[in-house]
Amino acid sequence: MQMNPLIQTYTEKYIAKVTPLVQKAGKLLNLDTTKLEESKTQLSPFEDTLDRHHIVSHKTRSKEADVFRFLRTQVLQAMAKHNIKAVAITSPRYGDGKSTVATNLAISIAQDLKQTILLVDLDLRKPSLESYLELNAKQGLTNYLAGQAEVPDCLIRMPFERLSVFPAGDRIDESSETLGSPQMAKLAAELKQRYDDRVIIYDMPPLLDQDDPLVFLPHVDGVLLVTREGVTTVEEIKRCLDILESAKILGVVLNAG
Ligand SMILES: Nc1ncnc2c1ncn2[C@@H]1O[C@H](COP(=O)(O)OP(=O)(O)O)[C@@H](O)[C@H]1O
Ligand SMILES: [Mg+2]
Repeated sequence: MQMNPLIQTYTEKYIAKVTPLVQKAGKLLNLDTTKLEESKTQLSPFEDTLDRHHIVSHKTRSKEADVFRFLRTQVLQAMAKHNIKAVAITSPRYGDGKSTVATNLAISIAQDLKQTILLVDLDLRKPSLESYLELNAKQGLTNYLAGQAEVPDCLIRMPFERLSVFPAGDRIDESSETLGSPQMAKLAAELKQRYDDRVIIYDMPPLLDQDDPLVFLPHVDGVLLVTREGVTTVEEIKRCLDILESAKILGVVLNAG
């Protein structure tokens, strides 16, 4: 896979604070699951769902899982260096691969490193974790915010060890008001305190299609920016980096187109 030369050039030339993650991750994040077709008959319905959504990190011996082991190592190093516990994963637009990267990264971290992880779906308008991970959730974040549920009622333990998911709950339209609400600030603080030993990954809305993530950024310690090969433009990256000016950017992931 060729990397978008514009992104590479732009990154190298102008973005000193963006780590070299973009280069290798770009090459590696090519999640071709077509060859898995052969063994489809042996897959459980749950594994089949994961496959369809390009969730590959649990297949520890696959090349695709290697992609995320690599990314995971980079991200964890950056987190350790800057004492970061809560990471937001965002991108310029819908469809860039935020939820895919967030989920694979979470599974990858939980799997090998004895690190407990909480993956939170903050894309309240277009939540994905429910379907990507077949959660069958009864309630989630929006229910918590409406006072209908407590935090432990919302958490779903995955069949992978050490991974819990906080689903979005009923989808809502006025997402930016919600993400900027005092209840949301309270929740972010509570998640950090209550689950002190956990890494928290927030699967965010896009930066340029909505203003949501901005209001939530003060509650995270670091941001991973996902870009999509052949789709994301240099101008969009530039705008995102402007928006993220005061945030700690851990790196930029170049997702395959
Ligand atoms: N590297 C990849 N290779 C193939 N398909 C991908 C890849 N990354 C994401 N996808 C697919 O692209 C679509 C959008 O990805 P998603 O993670 O939901 O984007 P976002 O959360 O940014 O809106 C999904 O159908 C997902 O399975
Ligand atoms: Mg998403």
